[in-house]
Amino acid sequence: MTAAVPHLDRPHAPCYVRPAMVTEASLVTLAGDPPAAVRRRDIRTMFDRVASRYDLMNDLMSLGVHRLWKHRLAALAGDGPGLAVDLAGGTGDIARRLADRGWAVTVCDPSAGMMAAGRARAASHGLGWVAGFAEALPFPDDRLDLLTIAFGLRNVTERAPALTEMRRVLRPGGRLLCLEFSRAAPWLRPFYDPYSRHAIPRLGALVAGRREAYRYLVDSIRAFPDQDSLAAAMAAQGFEDVTYRNLSFGIAAIHAGRKLH
Ligand SMILES: C[S@@+](CC[C@H](N)C(=O)[O-])C[C@H]1O[C@@H](n2cnc3c(N)ncnc32)[C@H](O)[C@@H]1O
Repeated sequence: MTAAVPHLDRPHAPCYVRPAMVTEASLVTLAGDPPAAVRRRDIRTMFDRVASRYDLMNDLMSLGVHRLWKHRLAALAGDGPGLAVDLAGGTGDIARRLADRGWAVTVCDPSAGMMAAGRARAASHGLGWVAGFAEALPFPDDRLDLLTIAFGLRNVTERAPALTEMRRVLRPGGRLLCLEFSRAAPWLRPFYDPYSRHAIPRLGALVAGRREAYRYLVDSIRAFPDQDSLAAAMAAQGFEDVTYRNLSFGIAAIHAGRKLH
């Protein structure tokens, strides 16, 4: 018998993390090199700062297309019931969609600000909210049917250990679905690159008052592995049946992988 984990074993029982309670100490303290720890904290702080404008910015930057991509991710997840964690879940955009499909979902994210911004909107969805970094997930081994991560892996400082963690918490047969920006088709890049390099940081300055956060967004997209490299990284961490599909000509992609045993 495995130990009960409140957030996972009471599906649809709201179990909110009160932002005031999320302190440095309440997050798993990670080993690892100090620069990684500093970077992790800085990224979390940055998301805390943009949280109140995050959803609006997503709509403006993508002209609403991020909603279609998220809808696609939820459609690929299919219908519950089952236990799901939406990692780097932020304001709960993916989690709400999964809950609508019958999944018992817990949002896991290190930013209390992002989770607080999403709580009110998700009040009727019975989500759980847990503070945690991808590199040290606060869940037991072999438990989840589904783990989703949307626009989150790019922000994870130590990607390989995080993928190992994702695999650890999935049950044998469980699935990982990862939605992330990726490498756009060559014909699209002459239009997409200038847009992302110039327009997005300006929009970030105008709407969220945070040009640097949206400069970071663009830089992190450029630094992120392309479709095949991410698929290889997932396979290297033990995921099987790894596949991906491009969205909007490769501007984003959904990678899927399974933990077989
Ligand atoms: C771009 S937002 C995505 C939010 C949501 N998944 C969505 O699609 O709208 C990235 C999220 O990753 C979270 N994050 C940053 N570093 C993380 C880490 N090391 N582990 C897990 N999540 C992290 C941030 O707090 C933020 O909420």
